[in-house]
Amino acid sequence: MTDPRPSRPAVPPIVLASAFLFDDTEALARAAGARDDHLYTRWSNPTLSALEQVVAELEGAERALCCGSGMAAMSLALLAALPSGGTLLTQRELYGGTHELVEKLLPGFGYRVIRASMDELVQAAAALEPGSAIHLEIPSNPSLRVADLPAIRAAGPPGTPIVVDATFATPINLRPLEHGATLSAHSATKYMGGHHDLLAGVVSGSGALMERVWTLRTLLGPVLDPAAAYRLWRGLETLELRVVRQCETAETLARRLAEHPAVAHTHHPCLPGHPDHALAARLLRSGGAVLSFELAGGYEAAARVADRLRVFAQGPSLGGVRSLVSWPAGVSHRAMSEDERRAAGVSGGLLRLAVGIEAVETLWDDLEQGLRA
Ligand SMILES: Cc1ncc(COP(=O)(O)O)c(C=O)c1O
Repeated sequence: MTDPRPSRPAVPPIVLASAFLFDDTEALARAAGARDDHLYTRWSNPTLSALEQVVAELEGAERALCCGSGMAAMSLALLAALPSGGTLLTQRELYGGTHELVEKLLPGFGYRVIRASMDELVQAAAALEPGSAIHLEIPSNPSLRVADLPAIRAAGPPGTPIVVDATFATPINLRPLEHGATLSAHSATKYMGGHHDLLAGVVSGSGALMERVWTLRTLLGPVLDPAAAYRLWRGLETLELRVVRQCETAETLARRLAEHPAVAHTHHPCLPGHPDHALAARLLRSGGAVLSFELAGGYEAAARVADRLRVFAQGPSLGGVRSLVSWPAGVSHRAMSEDERRAAGVSGGLLRLAVGIEAVETLWDDLEQGLRA
């Protein structure tokens, strides 16, 4: 029975039902054939649909689908984009988990993987055969390199699907579909959720490819739990506020660290010495709220600084309201060989800062005391 009262909830209800009920066989059979009717939560669910609508608007996409983690989003997007037995071109500078996915899992499923350094990507795209797909991570974790998406699009064979992992950019700083990407994918665990309290991924795009993402999600099964979908929906309410502030703070810290005598090198696209500074200024609203810096003394020096920080907590992940520091060589990029780490721009003395929403001076005071000899 419908409620006659003329109000509706201000936020989407959390519909925990795994299955939806019908009054007769015909209605049930119709819903089973309709695909986007709510029938079974692995297919669709009202809380997930409310979230997906907001994500599609943020991404400027025809359709968005959410799933259980960022890795699930990358897997679904790559499997949707890759023709059977096809070739994937990707960059060397990648998040460690995605590196393992493309290096260790995809070849086992019969895909060929080509890795190119950031400066060779356009050339490598031009050399691709039809029947390939391209994967980019913009900006890259943790080296903050920015792939030239429009140039790569123009160089590749026409119609080559391009999957962009824009986790570090967020849709506030980059809407990949507007620059030639076919699918945009995020670890929504990071900025989109923003509060360190959920694991989720989202994929956006249009047409047959998104239908394939839906089929893969339904058959492989990494659907998002409706309670996490609600928390993600709520996180998105403040996404722009948080991200704009986090990026401003990160840029200030990057500029100050770049001048600090104890720091050998600072990586952030806002710095004039960054190899992709001009491209980032064209492509991104901001270079993001992650920065990394290198200490001349290698691992020992990095560990000493990280251990002295009090406001930056030590831990994996990024994108939440609390600032975090991590040592990529030993955490997110641990599974790589020394050579692979070097190619990904991850030295032993590199520390990654994921800037939260704390006051900039509080964070700078913490870094200054941590860097004091
Ligand atoms: C750029 C990037 N993509 C994907 C992932 C994977 O996301 P999740 O941990 O939500 O599976 C991460 C995780 O750190 C990441 O940094």
